[in-house]
Amino acid sequence: MIHHANASKFEEGVTKEDAYEQVLLQAEGLFDGQRNWVCNLANTASLLWHAFRSLPAPSNEVNWSGFYIVDTTIRDQLILGPFHGKVACQTIALGQGVCGASAAMKKTVMVADVEKFPGHIACDSASRSEIVVPITDTNDKLVAIIDIDCALLDGFDEVDQKHLEQLAALLSRSCDWP
Ligand code: SME
Repeated sequence: MIHHANASKFEEGVTKEDAYEQVLLQAEGLFDGQRNWVCNLANTASLLWHAFRSLPAPSNEVNWSGFYIVDTTIRDQLILGPFHGKVACQTIALGQGVCGASAAMKKTVMVADVEKFPGHIACDSASRSEIVVPITDTNDKLVAIIDIDCALLDGFDEVDQKHLEQLAALLSRSCDWP
């Protein structure tokens, strides 16, 4: 019997690069034969959460990892997708907050101090820094965003950006989007 929970085991003491490589490998394995976007985003939110938990600060202070999806009924709006962390705002207009800014530009937005980002939406007052990475389909149409929050300032760097952009590309080609 395959124990999928093993995919969430991240060794303590590995580098952030290694943890991300494991996330990408495990995700690829879990997506094999499975293209449902809810299922794949749910497992990816879990992988990211456990990967960050295994790392030293600031990564182990990640307090939200998940996704917003382009709303199929109101297309200039994002709607909450699978995540780990506290309950979050359900909808975000394109252009609003860090998520909406990234979605509108279809570019990664990394914020070292959310209080200095005009319009930041504080779903959880504990969040201090944030990275948002857009996911586009093969026609470059926005389908979703990856959102990670950290309870420490300056929680993310170019290593996070590089690997989360790789993860976005993997998700883009591995899911049937609504
Ligand atoms: N802080 C985000 C809102 C989403 S939560 O962080 C989960 C923003 O400003 O868009």
